[in-house]
Amino acid sequence: MAFDLEMIKAVYERIPARVEAARKIVGRPLTLTEKILYAHLTEGMPRQVYGRGVSYVDFAPDRVAMQDATAQMALLQFMQAGRSKVAVPSTVHCDHLIVAKNDSVSDLERAVTESKEVYDFLASVSNKYGIGFWRPGAGIIHQVVLENYAFPGGMMIGTDSHTVNAGGLGMIAIGVGGADACDVMAGLPWELKMPKLIGVKLTGKLNGWTAPKDVILKVAGILTVKGGTGAVVEYFGEGATSMSCTGKGTICNMGAEIGATTSTFGYDDSMSRYLKATGRAEVASLADRISEHLTGDAEVYANPEQYFDQVIEINLDELEPHLNGPFTPDLATPISKMKEAAAANNWPTKVEVGLIGSCTNSSYEDISRAVSLAGQVGKKGLKTKAEFTITPGSELVRSTIERDGFLDTFSKIGAKVFANACGPCIGMWERFGAEKQERNTIVHSFNRNFAKRADGNPNTLAFVASPEIVTALAIAGDLTFNPLTDTLTNENGEQVKLDPPSGDELPKKGFDAEDPGYQAPAKDGSNVTVQVSPDSNRLQLLAPFNPWEQTDLIGLKLLIKAKGKCTTDHISMAGPWLKFRGHLDNISNNMLIGAVNYFNDKTDNVKNQLTGEYGPVPATQRAYKAAGIGSIVVGDENYGEGSSREHAAMEPRHLGVRAVLVKSFARIHETNLKKQGMLALTFADKADYEKIQEDDTVDILGLTKFTPGVPLTLVFHHSDGSSDIIMANHSYNAQQITWFQEGAALNIIRKQFQS
Ligand code: F3S
Repeated sequence: MAFDLEMIKAVYERIPARVEAARKIVGRPLTLTEKILYAHLTEGMPRQVYGRGVSYVDFAPDRVAMQDATAQMALLQFMQAGRSKVAVPSTVHCDHLIVAKNDSVSDLERAVTESKEVYDFLASVSNKYGIGFWRPGAGIIHQVVLENYAFPGGMMIGTDSHTVNAGGLGMIAIGVGGADACDVMAGLPWELKMPKLIGVKLTGKLNGWTAPKDVILKVAGILTVKGGTGAVVEYFGEGATSMSCTGKGTICNMGAEIGATTSTFGYDDSMSRYLKATGRAEVASLADRISEHLTGDAEVYANPEQYFDQVIEINLDELEPHLNGPFTPDLATPISKMKEAAAANNWPTKVEVGLIGSCTNSSYEDISRAVSLAGQVGKKGLKTKAEFTITPGSELVRSTIERDGFLDTFSKIGAKVFANACGPCIGMWERFGAEKQERNTIVHSFNRNFAKRADGNPNTLAFVASPEIVTALAIAGDLTFNPLTDTLTNENGEQVKLDPPSGDELPKKGFDAEDPGYQAPAKDGSNVTVQVSPDSNRLQLLAPFNPWEQTDLIGLKLLIKAKGKCTTDHISMAGPWLKFRGHLDNISNNMLIGAVNYFNDKTDNVKNQLTGEYGPVPATQRAYKAAGIGSIVVGDENYGEGSSREHAAMEPRHLGVRAVLVKSFARIHETNLKKQGMLALTFADKADYEKIQEDDTVDILGLTKFTPGVPLTLVFHHSDGSSDIIMANHSYNAQQITWFQEGAALNIIRKQFQS
């Protein structure tokens, strides 16, 4: 059994009393989101009302899931915590490193060879620390989590933005960075700003060509890519309960595309059916017993305007299939308007490739509805005009659809089946001819469609739709084909119409996979050795950062005064650097290479104060490190905005930067710097930014009396012999000061487990 029944039992024992208590404290009926959040406060959090969009709250998630790209640094860090086992059930999923090119078998073989050292590391570290390991080819993290681990009323975090997919099974599931995953696995609380709440009331019932995907495509059109920021989207109403659990998963998955913290649905029969079909009847019966706590209160759904910050209503009886894109998932076009939209925007109407599957849309229901269309091709004398590919979300689904003959039907329309992995959804698609960068149109059932996302070609226009619409458009080879109204000319020159899709929510004969690809960890991992080759250039074991030397920091060199925007991408660039995510020293060669030097407006070109010469930022910092000299980085407003990438804090720490002084921080990056034992400081007077000069040497004073709320004093010594005294604020609390003193937050945990 891959899932942890005892943990779920313990959560369900706690939920009723905690929900009752929260209802009393809040003094009104509760949404589902509030029930789950209040039931997952850490023991130490005061039981009080937390302001939505205002209060920072510590939570205790029930599970952690990691995909192979982000798991590397999370687990290397976790190894520093000194624990013998993870504190909460956790899993690793090998899905991001498999390139889709020829077919599932040869593509998988190639990945297993090319990424062997990464897989060996992940398998061995999982085995040692009690983490479930899903081998390459087992499936995509979010599909595997839905099939095995998600449970109504639970809370989980995952190191991938589409972790939110598990909301389809009534969870609060949130995407985070590796550092957060590491903390929760180490037993630390996880902090989140109490989210705002958006309620989406679904009336009516899906019918004909319309699918769950169209609900979220419509919502994305209404809310846009930023509309969900800082909010949880909670769906309810007869339209919600009438759709499948996996359909709900699709809707929650793409909540990431509107910036939502997560999305969720209340527990209902569809979830119970799905739990039973995926071997978790015990979880369904446990959930049945406390079902009133696993959905929002009736009064909330009857008068949603009173309880949500924003309410949207969608009538599924009237909802049309949509195509969203190109280049952004919120450009929503109802299928009946596509002819006009394509003409007005000069979009190429010939569909080159239709791609179905991925983490977003590869349920049995999705594939069975798509195959009902593929089956009509031969029967109606049609020929499929576009290329067609399928990326199954898991081996469980792949093996079941093979048994049920779906793959045979797809092969008759020339479909290519890729490995059970992310592939084209994350740009791991070696598409033939993409390097020519021709302008062309593809349609897919994935979630994201930014430029270059699927095939690396900036001129590929990708439209997102349901698997049913993707299949119909691939058969027609035409973006403007509306299967609801239009006919196609068959091989005999006759006009034929496609019948609306039909399919089964769940396989009649049950799911079936000989080997779903799971590897359980050792019961006692103390003798397991974590496999990292000392010669590897992709993986490197971490050494603990040194504790603070208990003196003020004197004689630091100014490394760079960054000008304007400096996001985590400027600090630790992605793209080709991603392959070094598990090797701190190698990836540190990208440190701050995207930041603009205030003094010459160039990127990756700063003055080495020891030689007077200009050179790359990482090389300059390595020269200071070699000379035993610390340094300081100065920045502008909202420094470190963007992703929660922990490398942006670990790299400067590794290379010997001691402090980052900015006008303001993006909050997550500020916390990441603190966790790594750095000084994250802000100008008390932002105008002092102008006083910093290129050849400055800096002293940071007051560290021996480092106290919450008390500013530090920085002396900037200029090359002409003058100096400026600058006051720097900080937001360290007493605990965070110990992180600085001990060298890193993880050093403190390690001490606890060693003592
Ligand atoms: Fe992400 Fe798609 Fe994989 S959104 S998890 S890349 S299948």
